[in-house]
Amino acid sequence: DRYGLSSARKGYGEFKGYSLPESFSKYQKEIEDLEVYDDDVWVTSFPKSGTTWTEELVWCVANDLDFEAAKVDLDERFPFIEFCVFFGMDDPNNAVPYVRRSLEFLKSRPRPRFIKTHLPWELLPKQIRTFERRPKIIHVARNPKDVCVSFYHHVRFLENYSGDFNLYVQLFLRNKANYTPFFNNILGYWNRRSEPNIIFLKYEDMKKDLRSILLQVTKFLGYELREDQVKTLLHHLSFEVMKHNKATDHSTVAGFLKSKGLLFNPDGEFMRTGTSGSFKSEMSPAMIEYFNRWTKENLAGTGLEL
Ligand code: A3P
Repeated sequence: DRYGLSSARKGYGEFKGYSLPESFSKYQKEIEDLEVYDDDVWVTSFPKSGTTWTEELVWCVANDLDFEAAKVDLDERFPFIEFCVFFGMDDPNNAVPYVRRSLEFLKSRPRPRFIKTHLPWELLPKQIRTFERRPKIIHVARNPKDVCVSFYHHVRFLENYSGDFNLYVQLFLRNKANYTPFFNNILGYWNRRSEPNIIFLKYEDMKKDLRSILLQVTKFLGYELREDQVKTLLHHLSFEVMKHNKATDHSTVAGFLKSKGLLFNPDGEFMRTGTSGSFKSEMSPAMIEYFNRWTKENLAGTGLEL
């Protein structure tokens, strides 16, 4: 363990083959047994793949572009089911209810519920996995180089990670970072993309042509938008606008953690670059080469390109 991987992973466990904080064990059964509704709308993703962006898109479409109601913190409108695992019940100082008691909070939400998770397919509620219930599931994926770089900045900012970038890359590649193995997680959704209640999106496609993705998701959710609404929403979803939107930059949670001294890098920002390919300025050519080979090997025969 020349990278110090095990000490960097103190307090972490493995659940159905995925790395997660040990505290997940306290909630695993409750999530497994969660009552799911056909009118739930789930956004699923590997962290840092454009989850927030997709959530805001989905929420606005499903709520008739109610920008007044959208001023409520996205983490409240669109609860993150396993938030409690990270900043949970064990921490009595954590007073944000939709963080500390995310599962209870979710259960108290009016329907249709909007739910965010980074859990892999294997750890979703049983009613989803068995297709007993068919909530709408919008999955968003992103190329692993940008994900890894963005994740590194994220854990420094919000998860009190104090290691360097190289250590983080090792954790990511060796399936020790949260929610890894990366490809297993994503492929669980990719392989079910032809199910009528599942849609699979890519961050890179959203960057290239957000309008098409917006129309695709709108149709998938069973709505229609007028052209002027499309224009308004595209503006609302632009990086510049979202960067300055206090309801979508996770600043409530970040501010709270900051006030408790729980941010390793309190100057971090959730809305960082919002671009594709920012890995180029942080990864060495050898590392890029390694990631490319690793990606090719893992996606061979799947039909998925990232
Ligand atoms: P970077 O760290 O590369 O900038 P998630 O919501 O899954 O945690 O993903 C966060 C990533 O999505 C961050 O990537 C963030 O900047 C980017 N992002 C968030 N909103 C965006 C938007 N409106 N347009 C483009 N990228 C966005």
